[in-house]
Amino acid sequence: MQNPSLTYPLGCQLADKLLNYIPGGSHAYSKSVNQWPNLSPKVLSHGEGSYVWDVDGNRYIDWFTGLSTVSLGHGFSPVIERVYEQLKKGINFQLPTKIEFEAAEYFLNVVAKDDMVKFSKDGSTVNDAAIKLSRAYTGKRYIAKCSQHPFFSYSDWFIGHSRYDQGILEESKKYTIDFNYNDISSLESLFLNYPNDIAAVILEPVRFEEPQKGFLQDVRKLCNDYGAVLIFDEVVTGLKYHLNGAQSLFGVKSDLTTWGKGIANGFPLSALTGKKDIMRLGDTVNQDNRTFLLSTTHGGEAASLVSMMATVEEFVKKDAIFHNYNTGKALKDALIEEIERFGLKSYIKPIGYDCFWSIIFLNSTGEQCYQFRTLFMQELISNKVLFRGIFYPTISHGENEIRLTKLAFNNACRIYKKALIEGVDQYLVGHKVERILKKQ
Ligand SMILES: Cc1ncc(COP(=O)(O)O)c(C=O)c1O
Repeated sequence: MQNPSLTYPLGCQLADKLLNYIPGGSHAYSKSVNQWPNLSPKVLSHGEGSYVWDVDGNRYIDWFTGLSTVSLGHGFSPVIERVYEQLKKGINFQLPTKIEFEAAEYFLNVVAKDDMVKFSKDGSTVNDAAIKLSRAYTGKRYIAKCSQHPFFSYSDWFIGHSRYDQGILEESKKYTIDFNYNDISSLESLFLNYPNDIAAVILEPVRFEEPQKGFLQDVRKLCNDYGAVLIFDEVVTGLKYHLNGAQSLFGVKSDLTTWGKGIANGFPLSALTGKKDIMRLGDTVNQDNRTFLLSTTHGGEAASLVSMMATVEEFVKKDAIFHNYNTGKALKDALIEEIERFGLKSYIKPIGYDCFWSIIFLNSTGEQCYQFRTLFMQELISNKVLFRGIFYPTISHGENEIRLTKLAFNNACRIYKKALIEGVDQYLVGHKVERILKKQ
């Protein structure tokens, strides 16, 4: 068996040291060693555009830049220069700054098309705030969440339903209930079972599965009929499917929307936007009944706000979303060519929109299989494509990255075909990747 410590000597040493200091060895569970094949780089050193390097000096094409936060590419100069100018002028102050006003006005008018905004640092915080606000606004208790969407928040209301449920009170779990995407009757049943007690419905407008005709409109209607707040989580989808969020692609407007990940090209920024009559409950100047909407020390931090404005300007100037769809399609076509070359259509199935897509891997008996998924990752990585299940093109990706990735696909498909015949254990080195939150 190949030994990762021979392939990645410095990375393996450093990964052990990380485990010693940081529980799990990383600050996001999706970066842990159990999320990657054994034969993967363990620790990265830096990035540039659509490439990253590991500490052992290997270069990889990066198709999921910073878990899709780095929406223009690593070290993107027009953004970096604007941020650098701001760094020299200071980034945290005792009073609100003019930049907070400019960022709020710009984000609301150009991206969110909403009335009010609160900025924060991560997606979980703004989803939590949206939940609290919905309960305060409606006076109801239950939160209906879409069970196919993998992550909304690290807080108890959500994480209590995952495999990480230790340390969470039953009381905090019991007001979160599930419905299924593209199954309006499952949501309708919740409204019938908990009449007058559902405060909010939260879902991503889209993920890899396309919304069926009328589904999002029907969700909107049920929320209106039963007096629940509709929250669209656009933490992932924002700035990917459409400049104004995936919801505008489908013509359905939420009451509250949450944003994060790619809105500031990797700088830590998230946002809760929404209708004034709901958002104003968080007004601590004009409201007597207080709702703790969001108050964070770093919420108005200027470098990230400037980064957001520079990022969105680049998206508009370069028509980045149009470019990303085209690049994603060219990449998908290249993969499909290789899949067909090896006769693997029944085993490797691309899913999702061209701007953000994934692959389902099946074994020889036609079942979805994490071992085969891990094998495909392993083979792409050994051909210097850092793949963790999702392809997210940016304007830093182009023809050369597609050409190199197609070569890697060719190799991965060749090995996959052999593994289907001879058994995946012959080819997979070490463990299969784990599902992050779902019970195994
Ligand atoms: C759809 C969605 N919403 C919210 C979050 C939480 O964001 P964060 O990790 O920034 O707290 C995530 C994280 O992956 C996510 O995928």
